[in-house]
Amino acid sequence: MGIDVACGTFFDVCGIVGYLGDREALDIVISGLKRLEYRGYDSAGVALAADGAIEWRKKQGKIANLVGAIEDDPLPSATIGIGHTRWATHGAPTDANSHPHVARRIAIVHNGIIENHAPLRAELEAAGAEFTSETDSEVAAHLLESAVAGGAGLVDAMRQVVSRLEGAFTLVAIDAQDPDRIVAARRNSPLVVGVGDGEYFLASDVAAFIEHTRDAIELGQDQVVELTRDGVNVTTFDGAPAQTKAFHVDWDLQAAQKQGYDWFMRKEIFEQPHAVADTLLGRLNDNGELVLDEIRISPEELRRINKIVIVACGTAFYAGLVAKYAIEHWTRIPCEVEIASEFRYRDPIIDPMTLVVTISQSGETADTLMAIRHAREQHAKVIAICNTNGATIPRESDAVIYTHAGPEIGVASTKGFTTQLVACYLLGLYLAQVRGMKYGDEIAAVLGELERMPQEIQHLLDNQAPILELAEELKEEPSILFLGRHVGYPVALEGALKLKELAYIHAEGFPAGELKHGPIALVSQDLPMFVVVPPGGRDQLRDKVISNIAEVKARGARTIVLAEAGDEEARKHADHFIELPRISTLLQPLVAIVPLQLFACEVATLRGHDVDQPRNLAKSVTVE
Ligand code: AGP
Repeated sequence: MGIDVACGTFFDVCGIVGYLGDREALDIVISGLKRLEYRGYDSAGVALAADGAIEWRKKQGKIANLVGAIEDDPLPSATIGIGHTRWATHGAPTDANSHPHVARRIAIVHNGIIENHAPLRAELEAAGAEFTSETDSEVAAHLLESAVAGGAGLVDAMRQVVSRLEGAFTLVAIDAQDPDRIVAARRNSPLVVGVGDGEYFLASDVAAFIEHTRDAIELGQDQVVELTRDGVNVTTFDGAPAQTKAFHVDWDLQAAQKQGYDWFMRKEIFEQPHAVADTLLGRLNDNGELVLDEIRISPEELRRINKIVIVACGTAFYAGLVAKYAIEHWTRIPCEVEIASEFRYRDPIIDPMTLVVTISQSGETADTLMAIRHAREQHAKVIAICNTNGATIPRESDAVIYTHAGPEIGVASTKGFTTQLVACYLLGLYLAQVRGMKYGDEIAAVLGELERMPQEIQHLLDNQAPILELAEELKEEPSILFLGRHVGYPVALEGALKLKELAYIHAEGFPAGELKHGPIALVSQDLPMFVVVPPGGRDQLRDKVISNIAEVKARGARTIVLAEAGDEEARKHADHFIELPRISTLLQPLVAIVPLQLFACEVATLRGHDVDQPRNLAKSVTVE
């Protein structure tokens, strides 16, 4: 049972291509997959229906590996085929776990998570199905094969199968004994149809087929689509005629890959509601207890932990700073947060009762990797929070909590950060649950608020106009400061980092309480200063920040205040007021960071910079 999240889950990480026509399917499917490479992936595969059989090749790694495998062992000619680039969620990136998945006469490719794959797999194995992978997706292949073997046509078989699946999925299937039909179904995961001249395409996004046709049909929620050589038929899961939206793609390829956004980074900022929802998906068992994937550390061992050290770099380090407040408050375990490149050189005090938590979007950051190797030499347990299934860091850790942000293409991390926060909160709650520091209802209360986050983030994104205007006003500023207290301090640091790495503007984040110990000397007339104001209700935290705003305003600063809607006291001191939703203190970073991401992205755009590839930066720093 997963957490029903308000925004609904939306998986858009794997690449899917299907073709039915009179040309060589293999060429078209492979070129379509190459158009989807930008999405990031860790394996690729293709299946054809030829001469009454399913012929397929699939390989871990880049599409070039797949092409090489096909050159070594050619596929037969066929005019119907499906292909897939996988971004692993369940099961490491291996040849066997790659798609397509084949069950006798059926081949499928899948994008999403089948939450109830475990009971379905057990049922199928009990009935004699032989699985060849550790993926959730393969379940769908066997279910379809069982249905068509029972006499159902592929469309009816698909309807039967999807009625049993829970989670987010796009499923595309072909049947060796029905080589004139491709059938697909979608729920919370994208799928578009390309309508050519006597040929039809299916894809995760139009980039895969716009070189062949720009006439497309967007599929809606819970729909089944059937492609035959005579045309396209779309129904609901129940078989009733369905409404679809035909459109003409006027984007060029690059824009298509960015789904209309100007930058991958902006697209990824706007993907955060879904990324957060997907990271929350499937974290509860049927008893309402938190379960974390691949936690291979026993509750007994976790109960013996007497110190936590979080180790990370850059944005991930700032997520760790937020995590410290939540973990210490919820578990009462001392929690240190270390810059990975400093960690092992300070001769840290680590022992078997220390839990080291590494946070890394890429899972390949050398500084972080070297830090956990050092920690493991000291016999500490290591949990990785990572967005890349099967990366080096999770592989070298004792346990992992995967975020489900999907590939993050922009060098500047955005959805990586917010989903890291979610994973940190989940870890803190899990530790509190295991150590009996929080009752189930207390944990459920925090999870309930986390479930609201996708829609709260969406609300901020829907009201970005004031941020864009502010970016226009401040785009030439030489220096901008960021202040925050408590969990607002890491938000200030992350906001400053975004501006530094994107707009190349000097920006610095400070703990608001530190102002009077030096930084206030920086305050000059009209110096822009962002201030993150905590929600009310927690000691004098908020009142002190309000005083800090008054102090800098009195010295001429231009104050941009981020505070809860209705906080008129804060608004009084604001030259610009950015309204945040009413969120509890520890979770506020999930929303407070969004305006700062938007601001940095817009300022950089206005300054004419390459937002996705900022100068001097790499997406994954694999050198120390
Ligand atoms: C984020 O905007 C930066 N590009 C950078 O600080 C990044 O967060 C850091 O290099 C860590 O990367 P990782 O999460 O992949 O380990």
